[in-house]
Amino acid sequence: MQITDIELKDLNTKGFIIKKNILNEEEVNRIKKIILKNKVGKGGSETYYPANNKQLAIKLLKLDIERFLSAVFFLKIKKKLELDKFASIFFGEPAKLLMLDGYHNPISENDILPWHSDQAYSGKLNVEKINSPDLFYFKFFFYLTNVSPNNGCTSYIPGSHKITYAVRSCLFEKKIKYQPFWSIKDLVNIIIKKENYNEIKQKLSSENELINFLKIAENCISNNSFSDYDFHAGPGDVLIFNEGGVHKGSNPTKNERVVLRYLYSKAKQVNN
Ligand SMILES: [Fe+2]
Repeated sequence: MQITDIELKDLNTKGFIIKKNILNEEEVNRIKKIILKNKVGKGGSETYYPANNKQLAIKLLKLDIERFLSAVFFLKIKKKLELDKFASIFFGEPAKLLMLDGYHNPISENDILPWHSDQAYSGKLNVEKINSPDLFYFKFFFYLTNVSPNNGCTSYIPGSHKITYAVRSCLFEKKIKYQPFWSIKDLVNIIIKKENYNEIKQKLSSENELINFLKIAENCISNNSFSDYDFHAGPGDVLIFNEGGVHKGSNPTKNERVVLRYLYSKAKQVNN
């Protein structure tokens, strides 16, 4: 895989890039076959695969040879595509694979996940320690089936990773009062609070970034089928994104969706 300077710049400014035909047909079919063996869709423990040698060894000790071999294959793909190297370039420092999973979603009228940002404490009302805003992740999100507008694509609001970074920075520096902000609605509520707005604005290069984001967010919240940031992708394409930005898994209305995901963090943040 190659990542051009323009793509790197895009990842930095927009928070995501989409690359076509990264996996070949044979790889797509083999990966799909493995993932479709899982009985449940997203979130079940069987959707996770060993992401490092230690986890691989545990599978081996448990004589779970099938999952061991599946993981070896997924890690081989990671090596071939040099994902470790690219993740390190994105972070600007050594990166490590933190999590590897693959799952399928059946056809549905409901969004797979509504608009949200990660590293946002989900619904936690009490948080003992606020993490540094620099704790965030990059995800390589491989599609094994077709996705399109309102059909399973992972829509992403361009530049929203900068907004959430600004909010996380203000929270970390205790410039604004803690509130969870996993959903886009909660995020907007934090931003528009009179006492927060100026603090957050100061973390951005211009107020326009904030104004534009609020306009888009309004559309996302008021219109369930808002699809301005939806896209077409096919089996073997990859979406690479900063997980801190605001994104959603749109409703797979036309066909089942199968995905394989590699989640990276900075190496110094990984204990194992
Ligand atoms: Fe997410």
